[in-house]
Amino acid sequence: MTDKLIKNKDKQEEQESPEEEVLFTSLRAGAWDEFFGQEGVKQALHIAISAAKKRKEPMEHILLYGPPGLGKTTVSHLIAKEMGVSIKITSGPAIERAGDLASILTNLEAGDILFIDEIHRLNKVVEETLYPAMEDYALDIVIGKGPSARTLRLDLPRFTLIGATTRIGLLSAPMRDRFGVVHRLSFYKPEELERIIIKAASKLKIPIDKDSIKEISIRARGTPRIALKFLKRVRDFAQVKGEGKVTKDLTDKALALLEVDTIGLDSGDIRFIKAIIEKHGGGPVGLETLSSTISEDISTIEEVIEPYLLQVGFIKRTSRGRMATKLAYSHFGLKHPEEPARNASHSDAGGKKSQQKLL
Ligand SMILES: Nc1ncnc2c1ncn2[C@@H]1O[C@H](COP(=O)(O)OP(=O)(O)OP(=O)(O)O)[C@@H](O)[C@H]1O
Ligand SMILES: [Mg+2]
Repeated sequence: MTDKLIKNKDKQEEQESPEEEVLFTSLRAGAWDEFFGQEGVKQALHIAISAAKKRKEPMEHILLYGPPGLGKTTVSHLIAKEMGVSIKITSGPAIERAGDLASILTNLEAGDILFIDEIHRLNKVVEETLYPAMEDYALDIVIGKGPSARTLRLDLPRFTLIGATTRIGLLSAPMRDRFGVVHRLSFYKPEELERIIIKAASKLKIPIDKDSIKEISIRARGTPRIALKFLKRVRDFAQVKGEGKVTKDLTDKALALLEVDTIGLDSGDIRFIKAIIEKHGGGPVGLETLSSTISEDISTIEEVIEPYLLQVGFIKRTSRGRMATKLAYSHFGLKHPEEPARNASHSDAGGKKSQQKLL
């Protein structure tokens, strides 16, 4: 069974070197007071946890969703810690057959948390096996085949399922409805990322000045995982090109090497928006067409690229496809097709203003 309990992996983490994996594990917030931001979610969870503890019952099933790197896995570990229970970690694609799920569930102890990452990727049969497990703490197992087949109901310990997904839209309605607690993690404000960077820099003993912390927080796409990654890259750069201390000048140079622009867009984001603007007249353009224009798979576009661009108001989703907004045009110093030439300088200033707001 344990081979089915895989380590939490995802697209971004898979690209990380073993050294980076260790770094992220060592930096994982070990207590709520090291977990900054997401105040609403934290408060609601604290209440749900205290109530469950008072009743001496396991927590209701919890669904956490939101873009990669915002803390879904971390929150799940913190819930387990606060409840004083064990957490078993697996993921949707790792549970191939109903039997795999059965063996995971029957090995849980009462009160344990089962964390299923990428829960939208469970297959139909496994998903349907999970329904009675979530609802009645029971597993219906079919024994034998054909006319002699019969169903055996196995009782399970009362456990809490925490499902995590970057794609809530892909979760079936019956699955979603079986979660009593549903929370969306949203992008972090730069001030919140600053606190995360300060904490990590002190844990890793990285000498870094205030301006550098601020710069990283602005350019980290509202995402703690990216902020921590930048911190490490900037530290490496400072050790090789400077005297060890991370200064603003070294930070700017290191981030330029990583091709991260002033508001944190990376080369993938820029390619995506420029494809809409330059190859498709600003849109609307369908996702499939865009996917082949930039040779990026649709799921990466939907899970990783688009959420942040929507958040900063650079793209719009319409029924006919994706469109680049005026703000996106002005960020790249381009004139929006609807803007009459005589108004160009005027609206440019407007664009710059809203850009500043973004920073
Ligand atoms: N609010 C926070 N405060 C401090 N550190 C955080 C916070 N949120 C996330 N982190 C750190 O950012 C990194 C990524 O977080 P985590 O792995 O929990 O994200 P995730 O939402 O599970 O991502 P994915 O969808 O890719 O699985 C971890 O090192 C974690 O400790
Ligand atoms: Mg995760």
